[in-house]
Amino acid sequence: MEQNQTTNTTQEPTPLSAANCSVICGEFETVMPTIPDESVTLVFTSPPYGVGMDYETDIRLSVLFEKLNVFFREAARVTKRGGYVCVNFGDIIPAREMLGTVEPCEMPMGWIYWSFGLGNGLVLQAQRVWKKNFAKITNGKHAISAPRPVPEAEHIYTFRKITGKPQYSGQVIRNRQISQRAIWDTSTEGSTGSTHPAAFPESLAERVIEIYTDAGDMVVDPFAGGGTVGVVASRMGRPSIMIEKEAGYCDEAKARLSSQNKDYPEQFSR
Ligand SMILES: C[S@@+](CC[C@H](N)C(=O)[O-])C[C@H]1O[C@@H](n2cnc3c(N)ncnc32)[C@H](O)[C@@H]1O
Repeated sequence: MEQNQTTNTTQEPTPLSAANCSVICGEFETVMPTIPDESVTLVFTSPPYGVGMDYETDIRLSVLFEKLNVFFREAARVTKRGGYVCVNFGDIIPAREMLGTVEPCEMPMGWIYWSFGLGNGLVLQAQRVWKKNFAKITNGKHAISAPRPVPEAEHIYTFRKITGKPQYSGQVIRNRQISQRAIWDTSTEGSTGSTHPAAFPESLAERVIEIYTDAGDMVVDPFAGGGTVGVVASRMGRPSIMIEKEAGYCDEAKARLSSQNKDYPEQFSR
């Protein structure tokens, strides 16, 4: 190139580099206290439901409530003022030992999350539902005469950490098109990319992360399972901490991260 020749200054947007994700294998009750106060922009997670999955060893109601209370207390502590705590949950029929009922009994979970959130300084700001693929979840096994409809949707509650100031005007809500919809339809999506029995779709994590964070903001999932939130956060340029108690799922999360981010291996600390 001749000297002084001008180059074309039209530039493609720089693609985001994959951000660092730490996968920590352990109980969230002991790992979360190591995260500094008000250092996180978004906690996004799906706590255990108490339906008797392999990883749910003690399913007493008091144990589930205590776990949720500690979760909300720690989530509120680590979240920055004005930051967000989003939880995904389904309304469930808990394992029978949990409620002590002879017959299966529905347990609506919304008020439980609402009350633990508010009790810990987190106000419920948005309720959404996400719709699953009917055919995939029933696999043809749900009887037409069953008393309960197919649980084909779950909830996402967004809590905001109280700032002391009203937030109804001037608040940055990114991607209005996604954020204004109350029902997110993920039913046409393919595999989750995880072997975890309760993994949620990557697009769910994508939507939540896009609405509530900017590139560089810290994201935490204390019930990380196969690491869906970390995989997506990393791809979107958000650093993250994934906490999971089962070693097998931690290994899966690490494997998903390194296969996705093989172009950036030096960025992964664990
Ligand atoms: C509903 S699953 C999360 C699935 C995840 N969203 C995904 O896409 O793979 C809940 C996870 O919480 C984990 N878990 C349960 N109790 C825990 C605890 N005390 N500390 C850390 N992880 C825990 C379970 O092993 C399970 O993998």
